[in-house]
Amino acid sequence: MNSSTNQKLEIQKVESSRIAEVDFNNLTFGSAFTDHMFECDYKDGEWQNPTIKPYGPLTISPAAKVFHYGQAVFEGMKAFKDDNGKVWLFRPEQNYLRINKSSVRLAIPEFPRDVFFEALTTLVKLDKEWVKPGQGNSLYIRPFVIATQVGVSASPSSEYKFMILMSPAQAYYTGDVKVVIADHYSRSANGGVGAAKAAGNYGAQFFPTNLAREKGFQQVIWTDASKHEYLEEAGTMNVFFRVNDTLLTAPISDRILDGVTRKSVIALAKNDNIAVEERPVSVAEIVEAAKNGSLKEIFGAGTAAVISPVSAFSYQETIYELEKQEDGFATRFKKELMDIQYNRSEDPFGWRYEV
Ligand code: COI
Repeated sequence: MNSSTNQKLEIQKVESSRIAEVDFNNLTFGSAFTDHMFECDYKDGEWQNPTIKPYGPLTISPAAKVFHYGQAVFEGMKAFKDDNGKVWLFRPEQNYLRINKSSVRLAIPEFPRDVFFEALTTLVKLDKEWVKPGQGNSLYIRPFVIATQVGVSASPSSEYKFMILMSPAQAYYTGDVKVVIADHYSRSANGGVGAAKAAGNYGAQFFPTNLAREKGFQQVIWTDASKHEYLEEAGTMNVFFRVNDTLLTAPISDRILDGVTRKSVIALAKNDNIAVEERPVSVAEIVEAAKNGSLKEIFGAGTAAVISPVSAFSYQETIYELEKQEDGFATRFKKELMDIQYNRSEDPFGWRYEV
């Protein structure tokens, strides 16, 4: 259902751009938004009135279900400008498929493909001045869906709003990333919503992540909820471990987000004949590898985080430092990935999507 619609995209342009107010050399991730946004409402069983309009506040009833039951999902994707001024999206089909997968899990109706792609490309073209060229600059794109039906009965909403916002971005993590391995709190459980990009998955991490921050760590690596024996993901990124020359990462399950950067790193590694094992990775084996020196690298992979090397991890109050690897896997995959994203290299996988 919903693979196409006859609805025409309405475009309301801003009278004057706010772009001159933004300091593109000092961007805090996700804090500045482009001139336009996309909005489409679900009512009477169909998505209707797809509209691009000036970025601005919404008027929503305080009784809308999203505020009470957290029925909300989102995506994170990026556009890049190459040195010739062309703008490219990175694997947008993956984000389209995933937002609908997340929606299904949260009992939200799927969004039509043609409206998604028309809205996305029209929006990016309209605000293309906001995509700055040069390594590290990108436009972070945030599609999301919220439940808008008025009423606090605990049942799925009959009305929704699908939106796309865009935010010029640079690095997500500016310094070293140090992580704590979870041994008490959990991000997700078997049969839960861990594989969905549900808003609540992120909100639920804030408290334990704050506890880690107070001790000087930026992120938590979540472990399985039952015994905390296996490493899963870091919440803002999937996680890879390099033991000797083998790359290890947790397999996709209903507890783990099927990250687009994660699957891109796996494809790049396989293409470079690097051994990759997608299998349960135990805390014990990583602690042992850190002790015996075979743990060479840990890095996170995500749209916002790109590829972020981890410089240390803490497990049950012991801190394990990792030596900086100038020419390690993280550096290599980051370069290969960004060369494709910025149209500086061949794209053997067909990941670039010209806007
Ligand atoms: C992304 O990488 O797009 C994410 O969703 C992480 C985010 C919470 C900033």
